[in-house]
Amino acid sequence: MITNALKGRSLLTLLDYSAEEIRYLLDVSKMVKQERKSGTISQKFIGKTIALIFEKRSTRTRCAFETAFGEEGGHPVLLSTDDIHLGAKESIEDTARVLGRMFDAIQFRGFSQKTVEILAEYSGVPVYNGLTDLFHPTQALADLLTLEEEFGDSRGKTLCFVGDGRNNVARSLIVIGAKMGVNITIVSPEQLFPDQDLVDICNPIASASGSRIVITSDIEAVSGAHAIYTDVWVSMGEESKTDERKALLSPYKVTTELMAKSGDSGTIFLHCLPAVKGMEVSPDVIEGSMSRVWDQAENRKHTIKALMLTTI
Ligand code: CP
Ligand code: NVA
Repeated sequence: MITNALKGRSLLTLLDYSAEEIRYLLDVSKMVKQERKSGTISQKFIGKTIALIFEKRSTRTRCAFETAFGEEGGHPVLLSTDDIHLGAKESIEDTARVLGRMFDAIQFRGFSQKTVEILAEYSGVPVYNGLTDLFHPTQALADLLTLEEEFGDSRGKTLCFVGDGRNNVARSLIVIGAKMGVNITIVSPEQLFPDQDLVDICNPIASASGSRIVITSDIEAVSGAHAIYTDVWVSMGEESKTDERKALLSPYKVTTELMAKSGDSGTIFLHCLPAVKGMEVSPDVIEGSMSRVWDQAENRKHTIKALMLTTI
C-alpha cells in the first residue's frame, strides 16, 4: 500500500532517509515488481511529466526512469545538457525554477552533488539523484533489493565491495549498509579508500543498526562475504586517470580465484554495470552462475518506480 509518508520528498543521498523510510521504499519496490510480473496496470501518473536531465551518459538509469514513468501513464522528457541552457547560459537556480513550473519531478545525473541540491532547493518538486560524483542512491536501493531477493533478510549479511572504494557506488553502499544493518567491507588500495568524513558519519549509524564498516587493502577480507561487488575502475569524468587506476587496481580484479576466497560457494557477484569485462571482473565471473547483475539491472526500474510512486 502506498501512503503519503514520503510525498514531496527528493532523494539526493540516502543519508537523508531513515531506515524505516528505506524499508518502505524496498517494500513498495517488491510490490510494484510483483504487479509488473502479473500484468497489473495502475497508471498513477496520467497527466504527469518528469524532466530527466543528463550531463553524463546512462543506459540503465535513463531507461528505468523512462519506462517506469511511462508504464504509469506519465510523460518523461529527456534533457541532455548538450541541448538545454543549464550551466551554460542559464544558472542552475533559474533552470530549476522554470522546470519546477512545468514538471512534476526532476531527475539529474551529472558531476556535482551541489547541482542536484540546488535543483531540489529551487524547483519545488521532488528531485532524484540519478548519479553524481559523490553518490548513486537509486543504485544502492536496487542493490539492496537484489540482496534481499537472494538471502531473504539482508540484515547481518556482508557485502564486500572490491575496487575503487572512493567512488559514488561504494559510498552509497556504505550509507545504505549502515542504515539497513548490512555489513560493508570496502577492499581497495589505500590511495582509493573512501573519504574518512563519510565513514565517520556512517560508523555510528552502522553501530545503531548492528552492522559494521570495514575499510581495508587486504584482499583476504572477502572471506565470509555473502556478496562481492565491483564497479568500473574509471568512473565517468575520470578518464585521464585510466593508466593510474589500472596500475593501482589490477590486484583487485574480481576473478574466480577471488570469489573462492569468500569461502562460501553461495557468494553472489554484483556489479552496477556497465562493466568492462576483463578489467575489473573476469568474463567467467560476470557470466557465471553466481552473477546476479541482470536481476540487479532490472531492479533499478522497480526501485525507481517505487521511489517516484511514493514521492510524487
Ligand atoms: N548502473 C547505472 O547507473 O547504469 P547507467 O550508467 O547505464 O545508468
Ligand atoms: N562509478 C561509475 C558508476 C556508473 C553507473 C561511474 O560513475 O561512472
